[in-house]
Amino acid sequence: MAVASMIIQNRKNAMHWQTRLIHSNAKAPSGFRSLATPVARGSTVIFDSVAQATDDWHQSERGYTYGLFGSPTVLELGARIAELEGAHHSFIVPGGQAAISIVYLALCRAGSHVLLPANAYGPSHDLATGTLRAFGVTVETYDPLIGGDIERLIRPETTLIWTESPGSITMEIQDVPAIAAVGRSHGIPVALDNTYAGGVLFDAFRHGVDISIQALTKYIGGHSDVLLGSVSVASRELYERVGTAWSQLGMGVSPDEASLALRGLQTLGIRLERLERTALAVAQWLADQPEVDKVLHPALTEAPGHDLWKRDFTGSASVFSIIFRHEISPDQVACFVDALRLFKIGYSWGGVTALALTYPGLGRPDAESGDRLVRLNVGLEEPGDLIADLDQALGSAMRQPTTGR
Ligand SMILES: Cc1ncc(COP(=O)(O)O)c(C=O)c1O
Repeated sequence: MAVASMIIQNRKNAMHWQTRLIHSNAKAPSGFRSLATPVARGSTVIFDSVAQATDDWHQSERGYTYGLFGSPTVLELGARIAELEGAHHSFIVPGGQAAISIVYLALCRAGSHVLLPANAYGPSHDLATGTLRAFGVTVETYDPLIGGDIERLIRPETTLIWTESPGSITMEIQDVPAIAAVGRSHGIPVALDNTYAGGVLFDAFRHGVDISIQALTKYIGGHSDVLLGSVSVASRELYERVGTAWSQLGMGVSPDEASLALRGLQTLGIRLERLERTALAVAQWLADQPEVDKVLHPALTEAPGHDLWKRDFTGSASVFSIIFRHEISPDQVACFVDALRLFKIGYSWGGVTALALTYPGLGRPDAESGDRLVRLNVGLEEPGDLIADLDQALGSAMRQPTTGR
């Protein structure tokens, strides 16, 4: 067909089917009122005129501009997290570690000094001693139980104080309000990894924190099938600072992932209640076993910072650790975990499945007992079955020779 006649056909609105594939007039009927948030996909956003075209990341206030800054599904998840945490705004990011990186990159520059609890999530330490050090940022670790004494570690160049409560693996509860008060008096933002609390068991903003991050991968996703994170900020000023870094780093997320997290949110309350009860039953049983020296569960009295947990938290969650007695060798500890049947061996926590892992070379709570530590995460299994599994695995471990590492 000659080009001229094609043009005439198009003018009569008889476009070639190839074009119709892209520009269709077909429409589904409107009025579908489902209970589920629709999964809105899209990179490009269409504008009505050149004058309206902008790539401004402030979509929640100024309207949609580009998919990287979030489709309606992603922004709804952000709004839901902000509502739950009482935040000024929540950014949704690809994972918990992405959330941690954004906070560092938003609040640090070459020459900055950062305070990080010694028990913080391992990859946060790796970022501090790797990429951040190469960029001229100094990250100093501090005793998580330091409380208000953190003031003596503040330097003129301190630009960020991290908290994580309970801390990863050794589960110390921090005096976050005391640390936040010090940060406020020096004008230094205090960030909290609030993943354990699912954003609900500890009210970060009421306790004075400026930024609360979560690995939504854990309790909000809730089923070990989604990786997502959130960065929630307390103020307009932090919204601008964090938002600038977030948008420049290209931390967009898929609406499919956001949709799974939105579904997870609906059952967060009932899952947390059940997980708390199961974890307590299992932790109390373990505390009575002769092979177990310590149970590091914030709701048990011997856990470090237990009084602070009682004062500041409204509940406990699914993850805790045990330390075997001195006479039990690290090989027996590994044998115990290998012998578990219902508890699977794997990283992460907060899903519906019980998990267990050892941390050889952890070096905390002291150089030697870290090698006899096992972190457990309970799932939605019946507590009696989990206890029976632990019991048979203890039996297997005790039958192992005690020589070895
Ligand atoms: C306390 C804590 N913060 C952050 C993260 C990182 O989350 P993600 O796996 O989504 O990057 C984890 C993951 O294990 C974690 O335990």
